[in-house]
Amino acid sequence: RTDPLVLGIESSCDETGVGIVRGDQLLTNTVSSSMDEHVRFGGVIPEIASRAHLDAFVPTLQQALDEAGVTLAEVDAIAVTSGPGLAGALMVGVCAAKALAVATGKPLYAINHLVAHVGVGVLDGGTLPDNLGALLVSGGHTEILRVKSLTGDVQLLGSTIDDAAGEAYDKVARILGLGYPGGPAIDKLARQGNPKAIRFPRGLTQPKYMGSAEEPGPHRYDWSFSGLKTAVARCVEAYEAAGEELPVADIAASFQEAVVDVITAKAVLACTEHGITNLLLGGGVAANSRLRELTRQRCEAKGISLRVPPISLCTDNGAMVAALGAQVVMAGAEPSGITFAPDPSMP
Ligand code: KG4
Ligand code: ZN
Repeated sequence: RTDPLVLGIESSCDETGVGIVRGDQLLTNTVSSSMDEHVRFGGVIPEIASRAHLDAFVPTLQQALDEAGVTLAEVDAIAVTSGPGLAGALMVGVCAAKALAVATGKPLYAINHLVAHVGVGVLDGGTLPDNLGALLVSGGHTEILRVKSLTGDVQLLGSTIDDAAGEAYDKVARILGLGYPGGPAIDKLARQGNPKAIRFPRGLTQPKYMGSAEEPGPHRYDWSFSGLKTAVARCVEAYEAAGEELPVADIAASFQEAVVDVITAKAVLACTEHGITNLLLGGGVAANSRLRELTRQRCEAKGISLRVPPISLCTDNGAMVAALGAQVVMAGAEPSGITFAPDPSMP
C-alpha cells in the first residue's frame, strides 16, 4: 500500500495556503499572505482577507502543483480547513476545494484548523505518540489540548478566556508604538530589556481560580491576557505622566516574561496532572524565542518530551491541512461530501 497523496487548502485567516503531502512526507508548502494589506489597519480586515484569497487561490494552487511535480489527476484526496476562522475567508477555501473535488471526482475531507496545527507534527519526525498534549498559541487561539487520537478524540483542557496570546502581543506592540504584527517586534526588542524590571500580572493564577490537583478551580488550566494588556497601558501612562522616558525594552521583556511564564506553567501543569508525557508546541507564537526556550526548560524538568515543528509549519499553512487530511484518509474515515458548510466557531 502506498501512502495517499493529499492536497490541503487553508484560508481561515490571512494566509492562502496550499500544501501537498504523501502520507507524512511533505512535498510542498506554498503560502501567500495578505498581511501587507492589513498592516495599515493594525489588524486583519475580514473582507480584505476574503478578496485576497480569491485573488491568490489559483496561482497558489498552480505553484504548489509545480513545486511538488504532481498533477491534480494524481492526487488521492483533497482536504480543506472548514473552521474555525473568519467566515468569509473560510468560504473561499471551502468553495475552491468543493469545485476541485467536483471537477476531479476526488474525495473531499473537511478539516478542523486547530487539530491540523497538531497533525502537522507528523511532517517533522513521523507518527505522533499516543497521549499527546498540544500547546497551540497564535493570534486567534491559546489552548492546551489532550490529543488521544488525531482523527477523533481531542479534548480541550484549557484556553484563554479573553485575548489570545498573539493578540496580546499585537495590542501591547500598538501601545508601545511598535507596529503590526507586534509579536516579532516585541520578541526582538525584549532581548535588550530586563524581564524582571517590572512585575506584570500572571492572569488566573490566584488560588480561587487554580484550586488544587484534587479539587481544580474553575480556571486551573486557563489563561487571561486582557488584564496584562491593561497593566502595560497603565505602566506606560505612569511614565508619560511623570514625564520620564519610556523604558520600552524593559517593558517589552517584562510583558513577554509574564505571557510566556504563565503559558508554560499552566501547560506543563495540565500535562503532568493528566499523565501526558509528550507535548507539541504550535501556532504562530511558537516562533517566539522565549516561549520556545522556557517550554523546553520546563518540559525537560518534568520529563515531558517536546516537539516543535519548524516555524513555516507552525504559522498557518496548507501543509498542515494536507498532513491531517492524510492521517484521516489512512484511518479509513468517510469523505465529508460536498454539502458541508464552513463553521467559523468550530470547537
Ligand atoms: O498562527 P498565526 O500565524 O496566525 C493566526 O493567528 O492564526 O499567528 C500570528 C500571531 C500574531 O499575533 C503575531 O504577532 C504572533 O503570532 N507572532 C509572534 C511571533 N511571531 C509571530 N508572537 C510572539 N513572538 C514572535 N516571535
Ligand atoms: Zn492557525
